[in-house]
Amino acid sequence: MTGRRVDAVVVGAGFAGLYMLHRLRDRLGLSVTVFEAGDGVGGTWNLNRYPGARCDTESYAYCYSFSDELCQEWDWSGKYPRQDEILRYLNHVADRFDLRRDIQLSTRVSAASYDEDERLWHITTEHGAQVSARFLITGVGLLASAPHLPSLPGLERFEGEWYHTGDWPRHHVELAGRRVAVIGTGSTGVQTIPVIAEIAEHLTVFQRTPQFAVPAQHHTLDADGLRWIKQNYDEVWNQTKWSIGGFPCTPHGRSALDDSPEERRKTFESLWAQGGLRFVVGNYQDVLFDRRANDFASEFIRAKIRERVKDPKTRELLLPCDHPFGSKRPIVETGYYEAYNRENVELVDIHSFPITEVTPLGIRTAAGHHELDVILFATGFDAVTGPLLRLNVTGRGGVRLPDRWAEGPSSYLGLAAAGFPNMFMVTGPGSTFGNIPVVVEHHVEWISDLIGHLRSSGHDTAEATPDAESAWTDTMARAAEKSVIPLADSWSTGSNIPGKPRTVLFYLGSYGAYRRQCDDVAARGYPGFEFSSAVAEPRSAPVSL
Ligand SMILES: Cc1cc2nc3c(=O)[nH]c(=O)nc-3n(C[C@H](O)[C@H](O)[C@H](O)COP(=O)(O)OP(=O)(O)OC[C@H]3O[C@@H](n4cnc5c(N)ncnc54)[C@H](O)[C@@H]3O)c2cc1C
Ligand SMILES: NC(=O)c1ccc[n+]([C@@H]2O[C@H](COP(=O)([O-])OP(=O)(O)OC[C@H]3O[C@@H](n4cnc5c(N)ncnc54)[C@H](OP(=O)(O)O)[C@@H]3O)[C@@H](O)[C@H]2O)c1
Repeated sequence: MTGRRVDAVVVGAGFAGLYMLHRLRDRLGLSVTVFEAGDGVGGTWNLNRYPGARCDTESYAYCYSFSDELCQEWDWSGKYPRQDEILRYLNHVADRFDLRRDIQLSTRVSAASYDEDERLWHITTEHGAQVSARFLITGVGLLASAPHLPSLPGLERFEGEWYHTGDWPRHHVELAGRRVAVIGTGSTGVQTIPVIAEIAEHLTVFQRTPQFAVPAQHHTLDADGLRWIKQNYDEVWNQTKWSIGGFPCTPHGRSALDDSPEERRKTFESLWAQGGLRFVVGNYQDVLFDRRANDFASEFIRAKIRERVKDPKTRELLLPCDHPFGSKRPIVETGYYEAYNRENVELVDIHSFPITEVTPLGIRTAAGHHELDVILFATGFDAVTGPLLRLNVTGRGGVRLPDRWAEGPSSYLGLAAAGFPNMFMVTGPGSTFGNIPVVVEHHVEWISDLIGHLRSSGHDTAEATPDAESAWTDTMARAAEKSVIPLADSWSTGSNIPGKPRTVLFYLGSYGAYRRQCDDVAARGYPGFEFSSAVAEPRSAPVSL
């Protein structure tokens, strides 16, 4: 193999890739190349430019904590920043830490294969360039790099425009005064629908499953708010690091079953008023784990929806009833339900009357035809495994990752996989879920610490053992038994993609519990990894989780 040689190749320049570059290059002194398929840094926030796109984690915790100076110098404009503000933040990070000189933009990695003799990864880009590296680190993200476009017959004949929200074009998309369709009512659809409703001549929403959405209660941050955040950052990060999902929020310590109906109503109302995901991560401790507790929260939300939607038929269609609250990733909304009170917005039930085809002039369902100028697919992503499988990775013994994971993925802590030496995954399958920048930061630090340990102990290769992988799979299964998440069809279980194996893609214990297990593995010298070097004998450590 000819081509450049570096210590590490990192794939992706979102939250994960940027910090990984900084850690490996500036802390460990490694030579690093980052390949980024997009035309800029920012990942998710460079790709998802649809109207209304913003995050739903509080701004001051949807960012890096590793640099106190960075925390102190950046002023967030409000509770939930818009896409362009987050993109500006990530560009600032790239400049501030002088990252751009090691990032190759507009360069997709098309294949990576492990050479057992040389103990190197050979990485090929879509332009045919080749680079060899001791370490391959994937920062391809869990969602944004693999938009899911359902196959609808006739789409190629549609005479209007169509777009996927996660692959939004750079040119202006004219929606004002036009007949627009949104297919999908997950977080993306719910975010964009009220914004488009204000400008479109007519908006038709094609809904397959009504979901639970909680109000954002968005507000701007004034000087006092910013001062409070900056003065309390140590406490904020300490809280997020050991929390249920990496959020700056303490859960309600009680069971919903222990309170009277009046006490429960007060608690739910208070969380509702605080807004956003506090209704999830600040709620009674058993809401996501006990069906009776969950039913109380689910019914509270349904009652709120009933209050907000005027038309009785539309109101009924919007009530989530086939899955428990929190089993699909909860949605945070602003003005979503009120959008349906507008004359120019129509809700179409494609659960009862599925889409049969796209025609040159619109969309036909089993119940009728809708004339349209623009179709927007807010139909989600081939999450977690999708971006990784597209990398075309071949490990030891010529084993391809897609073959290894044909029946569903397996990993050790979501960070490494047996048979793929020196390949580490940020937010890989089997890792934890929650406020992703906090999760990403943990993964990056854990992986770079492992690489530092490996090098200082005179080894050059670390590989997860099959036993460790299988023990982690058992740990995941035990955690999943207690959670409501496996009860719904959603991207967290792979069941949103036709033909994808249905399996829980995350460790569903709390983020804090996940972090403790990872810390324990590191403190014990990384049991579950086999360390080796070209000269030394392999050292194998047993794993007990
Ligand atoms: C619309 C939207 C809103 C979200 N809001 C929130 C939120 O409020 N809170 C939250 O916690 N999370 C949210 N998320 C999840 C979000 O993806 C993460 O918070 C975070 O941005 C992920 O960062 P990342 O660097 O891990 O991955 P990404 O941001 O997905 O970046 C991955 C990068 O890898 C690149 N890449 C992929 N494959 C290749 C390849 N083969 N070659 C080269 N480059 C490649 C991609 O181009 C991309 O730039 C949201 C996701 C979406 C889609
Ligand atoms: N910060 C934020 O507020 C924000 C915004 C956007 C995204 N996100 C993140 O990204 C994740 C994904 O969100 P998303 O809304 O893009 O995707 P999603 O949650 O997977 O929702 C996809 C929607 O499309 C529908 N759909 C999928 N395939 C379809 C088909 N063939 N025909 C008709 N409808 C179809 C789904 O219906 P079914 O439910 O019936 O499958 C669902 O309503 C979120 O869960 C969240 O983590 C966050």
